[in-house]
Amino acid sequence: MLNQVEEASSLAHADLHKVTSLEELESWRVRYLGRKSKLISILRSLSNLPLEERRAVGARANEVKSQIEALFTEKKEEIERCASLTLQHDRIDITLPGEPFQLGRLHPTTKSIKEICDIFVSMGFQIVEGPEVEWEYYNFEALNMPAEHPARDSFATLWVDCETETGARPMLMRTHTSPVQIRVMEKSRPPIRVIAPGRVYRYEATDATHEWMFSQVEGLAVDTNITMADLKGTLFEFARRLFGKDRKCRFRCDYFPFVEPGAEIAIDCFMCGGKGCRLCGNSGWIEILGAGMVHPEVLRGCGIDPEVYSGFAFGMGVERIPILRYGIDDIRLFYGNDLRFLKQF
Ligand code: FA5
Repeated sequence: MLNQVEEASSLAHADLHKVTSLEELESWRVRYLGRKSKLISILRSLSNLPLEERRAVGARANEVKSQIEALFTEKKEEIERCASLTLQHDRIDITLPGEPFQLGRLHPTTKSIKEICDIFVSMGFQIVEGPEVEWEYYNFEALNMPAEHPARDSFATLWVDCETETGARPMLMRTHTSPVQIRVMEKSRPPIRVIAPGRVYRYEATDATHEWMFSQVEGLAVDTNITMADLKGTLFEFARRLFGKDRKCRFRCDYFPFVEPGAEIAIDCFMCGGKGCRLCGNSGWIEILGAGMVHPEVLRGCGIDPEVYSGFAFGMGVERIPILRYGIDDIRLFYGNDLRFLKQF
């Protein structure tokens, strides 16, 4: 009988290790302390035993019973403590303020392109795009700049090695967005009103107003009876909307082989107010765009009869716009990836 008491004791100890919840603990208690359990049956049958054995078995059985009861209480407390810790850990305080999101921003160049495009779109222009890696033909030849033309020197070029099935054909990183004019005129007939934003590349030394990679927005309008007055009116309206009516705008002759006559527009320098400084190269003006009436040879080359149609075109430097509007004194800040600069826009 004593052996049976010991066996019940060691089984109860071993089984308790497997218990992880209050439900399992209750089953354990019923198994070892319940009315039908081995230990309680032994205690109930003590009176049938001879006196000596009754004393020994009774004492040991009561001792094991007390131990099992103590184990039960201890385990119950442990399970309850664990449960309350888990709850505290998982608790969500819905009154705490949320963690702020890191908001991204548009790059100042992207913002300016959007603003420029919005103005021209409101005037009836459509947005088009062209490739940044371009054929020499579109960047120069079709724009009235055959090989050896001296005007090519003003577009310091980054050339790209290119082998095609028909042999080597010269490719380059486009030096301006004007090739998009040709691509548009080859494919569509007047009336044409497009603007073409995009990146351009020049193999030149950088300074406060010159980068080797920058953005331009090209504009082209071709129709019957388009005149220089249309060009001037469109660009002055654009400058008025972007810079306000108080900024001075200079319109004067310039030369580009693909327009005749050609012009440039400059805005008075924000830094010196037109007196001359480092930023404007002591001229008092910052040039923002080149423009002109599309050269008849360029129209003809695209299959558009210059006797019937005429057009104007312009190409503006995008970064020069925020430079003038926000008083940024160095174009190189745009692509230096300094977040302290970029976060201001
Ligand atoms: C051109 O690129 C002509 N394709 C513009 C044009 C289009 C003329 C259509 C006539 C008709 P230009 O090289 O001047 O022109 O550049 C135009 C504008 O780009 C300049 O007025 C200036 O605002 C900007 N720009 C030129 N070079 C740089 C540079 N290195 N860094 C930043 N902006 C520049």
